[in-house]
Amino acid sequence: MSDPDIILSLFNKIRSRFPAFFLQSEGQKRLYLNSGAGSLMVDSCLQAINSSAAYLNPMPGQITPAERQTLEFQQQVRQLVADFIGASGPEEISFHFSTTAALFNLAYALRSLFKPGKNLVVTDLDHFANISPWESLGLAQGAEIRRVKLTPELMLDRTDLIHKLDRDTVLVALTGASNALGTIPPLTDLISDIKQKSGALVVVDAVHLAPHAPVDVREFGCDFLAFSGYKIFGPMLGLLYSRQETQDRLAPYRVETNQVALPYCWEQGMLPNLNLAGLKGALEYLLELGRAVRPRESSAPARKIFRLALEAIKKYEQDLSLYFLERWKKLQSPRLRLYGIENPARVVSRTPTFALEVDGLSPAELKKLFWEKGGIIIADGNHYSAVVVRHLKKSALNRVSLAHYDGPDSIDLFFDCLENILSH
Ligand SMILES: Cc1ncc(COP(=O)(O)O)c(C=O)c1O
Repeated sequence: MSDPDIILSLFNKIRSRFPAFFLQSEGQKRLYLNSGAGSLMVDSCLQAINSSAAYLNPMPGQITPAERQTLEFQQQVRQLVADFIGASGPEEISFHFSTTAALFNLAYALRSLFKPGKNLVVTDLDHFANISPWESLGLAQGAEIRRVKLTPELMLDRTDLIHKLDRDTVLVALTGASNALGTIPPLTDLISDIKQKSGALVVVDAVHLAPHAPVDVREFGCDFLAFSGYKIFGPMLGLLYSRQETQDRLAPYRVETNQVALPYCWEQGMLPNLNLAGLKGALEYLLELGRAVRPRESSAPARKIFRLALEAIKKYEQDLSLYFLERWKKLQSPRLRLYGIENPARVVSRTPTFALEVDGLSPAELKKLFWEKGGIIIADGNHYSAVVVRHLKKSALNRVSLAHYDGPDSIDLFFDCLENILSH
């Protein structure tokens, strides 16, 4: 069986793991097509939050059983996150309020690198969480900010990126995937270009990539990478990977009595244990999925099992994207516009996240119509990826974003409703 078929064969089981998929609203069925804003939580996340509340201690420690259990639990979660992204070990993983908070923390910790004569490179494809920290700290320290442009097809312009780099580039901030358009830039190649031409530190925002494809920090060759628990079927939490070798360049915000070593130097105050428990539950779901995808590899290391799960999700979602694009093309309405990759041959370079527009309806009006006519939740706005939206000379767009618990049935319901809206 190929990977998409495996996910299809497990599909009813997978969907049943996401209780919110079946939520009703005011007695009506609803369909959530806004996973780009936050995925549905998997049942094992909800259960872990609930059950861990009964035994976790607020403070980890060495003496009492509850302290030791909490210390061990926190280490287990760090190790699971390290396995999920291919980091060397738990010391490279820190917990934050959100990805945005993690990246502001990181920018502050690197501030001494930003000075007159030096430059930082950000991109027009990124969410503001991976632009504002660099712009605000970089400019405040007197460094120059350079912005990589997009091609006419709204891809990151690799030539422009290379052109913007020099030996004074101290940091480059890239996205793993655009939460506005679904576009996936070729990270490994781009980071290799950056390292060769400038030797700059590279920070990756993997928030939108992580639920859709394997994330591997060693393969990418990045120095830092952040992603969020609530986009990978878990709770609100920011995760930051910091490559061990970067430690001596960091001067994070920390209270004097906090440890100076990674990862503790990053963590301000006590950890949100219940969110950590929920994240553990979500990651364990992905391990279960990986084992179901390839039962004969069930005892392989966790890193391998995560990869199996995410490879299967990626291939399955490519089929979803193909089906979405096929139905979109069939509509042939001059009122419709899609932004981002439309060519089925390039579907490997996108997530099932679609930015669109209907002439004659504002994004807020279209969102309202989808809700009123079909009980379907889509997004409107700039999704904080405002630069790409501004690049299109818009202030807002609609966005339909799917995850692996969606099937062709979700897409059919969306298009039935869209046809209904267009016919009035
Ligand atoms: C691509 C991307 N980066 C960063 C963020 C911000 O994540 P957080 O809400 O955890 O700060 C988001 C949230 O939507 C996102 O989609």
